[in-house]
Amino acid sequence: MARAGYKRVLLKLSGEALAGDQGFGINPTVIQDIARGIGAAHEAGVEMGIVIGGGNFVRGVAAATSGMDRASADYMGMLGTCINSLALQDALEKINVYTRVQSAIEMAEIAEPYIRRKAIRHLEKKRVVIFAAGTGNPYFTTDTAAALRAMEIDAEVIMKATKVDGVYDKDPKKHSDAVMFDELSYLEVLSRRLSVMDATAISLCMDNSLPILTFNMKDTANILRAVKGEKIGTLVR
Ligand code: GTP
Repeated sequence: MARAGYKRVLLKLSGEALAGDQGFGINPTVIQDIARGIGAAHEAGVEMGIVIGGGNFVRGVAAATSGMDRASADYMGMLGTCINSLALQDALEKINVYTRVQSAIEMAEIAEPYIRRKAIRHLEKKRVVIFAAGTGNPYFTTDTAAALRAMEIDAEVIMKATKVDGVYDKDPKKHSDAVMFDELSYLEVLSRRLSVMDATAISLCMDNSLPILTFNMKDTANILRAVKGEKIGTLVR
């Protein structure tokens, strides 16, 4: 089925993507490249909300398995998303893309608090809104935060940026005959345990008929291709 272009999207970036090959923290070249990709889509007139993970600093689940209290680890991860959000805001504003950062955890000196109606107003005024601190709650992933914010701002799609071209029937790194899906249903993703987003996020999208487009962001020009409705990645709907 042909895909239409979008007017308002929620872009989900992984924290690890910002680290580049160094594997930790923020790689300036990578974040500038991502900012240019977002800037191109924004210039095309698409309203964009963005959720970034914090895995380049702390991964809640991993920290918990090494003995740390899960809730504390998750809060640390949320602070990681705030660092990433400020870094992306800086990179975007350097190329003259207006942004606002809204945080789910109050830190008034650093960012606006998350206020849904204000976020929508910012989008209408063509500002890119970066949602920091996940949902503000431990035990919820930033994928779930992305699903929640996408619904709240009435986005037409969640665009989940990944390191691979789309969703495959098996791991394409291990199996040369792995086949990429063009489209999938939510139930197929859940029943086959395909790694699109975690089950909470998928269920939330399914219950509210919010499509998820997973696509490769190694080439950041794919952000523009995706918002224009070009056939890239895998669409879950
Ligand atoms: P309009 O209402 O459309 O004018 O939006 P605006 O965001 O430009 O207005 P506002 O006066 O709310 O914000 C001006 C600047 O202050 C923007 O960069 C906001 O991101 C920032 N800002 C607003 N509220 C807060 C806050 O509670 N904390 C922090 N740190 N910054 C804020």
